[in-house]
Amino acid sequence: MALRNKPTWELLAEPDLSKVPVEELEYDALIIGGGMAACGAAFEIGKWMPDGAKVAMIDKAAVERSGAVAMGLSAINTYIGDENTPADYVKMVRNDLMGIVREDLIFDTGRHVDDSVIHFEKWGLPLWKQKGSEGKKLTEGGKPVHEGRWQIMINGESYKCIVAEAAKNALEEKGYDLYERVFIVKLLLDANKPNTIAGAVGFSTRENKVYVFKAKAMMVACGGAVNIFRPHSTDEGKGRCWYPVWNAGSTYAMCAQVGAEMTLMENRFTPSRYKDGYGPVGAWFLLFKSNVTNGLGEEYVKSEACKKELEKYAPYGTAEVTPTCLRNHLMLFEMKAGRGPIQMDTPKAIKNFLDDAKAQGMDDKALKKYWKQLESEVWEDFLDMTCGQAGLWASMNIAPEERPSEIMPTEPYMLGSHAGACGCWCSGPNEDWVPDDYKWGYNLMTTVNGLFTAGDGVGASGHKFSSGSHAEGRIAAKSMARYVRDNKDFTPTLKQTAEELKAEIYKPVVTYYENHEKTTDDMVNPNYIKPRHLMERLMKYMDEYAGGWTNYYTTSGKLLDIAAQHLKYLKEDSEKMAASGLHELLRAWENYHRIFVAENHIQHLKFREESRYPGFYYRADFPQTDVKTEEEGGWFCFSNSKYDPETGEWTMMKKHVHKIIPD
Ligand code: FAD
Ligand code: ADX
Repeated sequence: MALRNKPTWELLAEPDLSKVPVEELEYDALIIGGGMAACGAAFEIGKWMPDGAKVAMIDKAAVERSGAVAMGLSAINTYIGDENTPADYVKMVRNDLMGIVREDLIFDTGRHVDDSVIHFEKWGLPLWKQKGSEGKKLTEGGKPVHEGRWQIMINGESYKCIVAEAAKNALEEKGYDLYERVFIVKLLLDANKPNTIAGAVGFSTRENKVYVFKAKAMMVACGGAVNIFRPHSTDEGKGRCWYPVWNAGSTYAMCAQVGAEMTLMENRFTPSRYKDGYGPVGAWFLLFKSNVTNGLGEEYVKSEACKKELEKYAPYGTAEVTPTCLRNHLMLFEMKAGRGPIQMDTPKAIKNFLDDAKAQGMDDKALKKYWKQLESEVWEDFLDMTCGQAGLWASMNIAPEERPSEIMPTEPYMLGSHAGACGCWCSGPNEDWVPDDYKWGYNLMTTVNGLFTAGDGVGASGHKFSSGSHAEGRIAAKSMARYVRDNKDFTPTLKQTAEELKAEIYKPVVTYYENHEKTTDDMVNPNYIKPRHLMERLMKYMDEYAGGWTNYYTTSGKLLDIAAQHLKYLKEDSEKMAASGLHELLRAWENYHRIFVAENHIQHLKFREESRYPGFYYRADFPQTDVKTEEEGGWFCFSNSKYDPETGEWTMMKKHVHKIIPD
């Protein structure tokens, strides 16, 4: 009988690992993850792989509702359209991420992303259309309703289901395999060929079964990382975060552990959101043209004090569009001065819309109808994407036309596809305009041979969002197919036996069953620590010492050293993590990934002796943003790290930023 999600009396017997079967499988290419990037890869790969090739996609959850788009979205945030060019897109991302970006990767996404959007519509995703072009698809001259310059509105509750269906159909058409509810625990290097990927190993979250996959190549796109930092919510609401609670840093941890070079791992994303419900702000700022006020009711962003604050971070601070981190910085500036809370002035935004309509001659009856439409758009923005926020508004009796809502920066998350930029250091396109130190043969391949990534996995190229991640998955898949063709004679060979891998994966289960009788409370035991408690400890250390929200995102070299020391002990204790069932086994492995990512994050925060992203984090000991390049001894450069899988040592390095697209 499979381990259950909860311990039951009949399970309290000696665990017999010989009863856990191991399935050993061999593929040409693996797609690990089932989110936007993975679905893009699944859709694309069959077009480029050799006939008869074996391919599989593996998701820890069910593809139809997995990843960050699981709940649905209300906008596609990256669409180039007719009015913009990929070069404009590069400039926007460069400005938002304070200059340190991989322009080659961003340009490449920019020139491909619209094709993914066109496909989404073809597969059935409803895109809002401007008056006069209703009913026309983009390919028929339909004009999308823009939320902002880059974002277009959708009825997106079923976004992921639609994209997943296309991915699954494409896999099925080619006879490729799909494994759902299989959690990948680690990647495996080849026994003979140095720095070359050879496999991945994981377990079923539904039955007692271990999977050992061998593959010539793989794309790992398991999203970003949540629950590394303590969230705002307390016990009852702990499951509520902005970032989906099931992306636990697997991409970064697994790629780094086999030696993939990482970049900008100090860059965390701290989105400003509606307080407690984590509702999105983009539609309010851009579509509903709302302003934010401080607790005194002032539009603080227009104040002289805030303007001066931004000037400190020129040219980004003084740019036409203030970067995401600096928008947070101004909020924090106000809050620290005691002028909180920050509020989204929803009543004024709605009133402005209605006043405009009236000024244009709308009569009372038409106005009433218009308001109903506006009201439903306001609520739908949340219902499409963050339905908990709509629930919160309803339960707090908030009518947005009457009462403003508090917004504030959340806890930090690690990701590379939203307004954040951490991830793997990847090869750019193999084209002559791409600098030599940005390319090594296969587009979107990490520095490990045969290991590709996309979406949140690719560092230094944020703002690709759902559409860009899908497009990037497609680019990576095509590139991976070329790698497989070029390496058709390579036979992956693993260093470890299947039995050794099984014992490693199931160790938390054994720890539990060896010790569970030595306590009266299953959660508290001197011989083990449950995943829940371990995660709480991690979040506490990171919050208090590595710039979490309780310290206004401020840390220092000294605090980071303390964080590193705590993590060292936490890592030791994690050897004693105990899992009473498959669900806890999943939680245990998520924590192993989280700890590794946290360690990497701390090293990067310590390495970069400046505060590059004010509003996302501050180094109190280096509060400035440096303009000097690494050649001039400064920090206008990438910060990269590399873990040595043999020695367990990290190396930190600076890498040059090439400006490819002129201002
Ligand atoms: P995801 O889509 O998150 O996929 C990760 C996948 O990896 C999942 O299938 C997961 O189950 C799987 N996985 C994780 N760990 C493992 C493991 N160990 N083994 C196997 N599988 C694993 N973009 C927009 O365009 N518009 C928006 O309005 C918008 N709103 C957003 C709101 C929120 C709250 C968030 C978090 C993101 C939003 N985005 C939006 C961004 C968009 O969702 C992401 O850019 C995109 O989903 C990233 O794609 P990905 O494939 O890298 O990760
Ligand atoms: S979402 O992931 O939930 O959709 P969010 O609501 O923050 O994110 O933003 C949606 C889009 O609007 C993103 O492209 C974001 O960069 C942009 N955006 C949000 N707020 C602003 C703002 N005040 N100014 C400019 N762009 C913004």
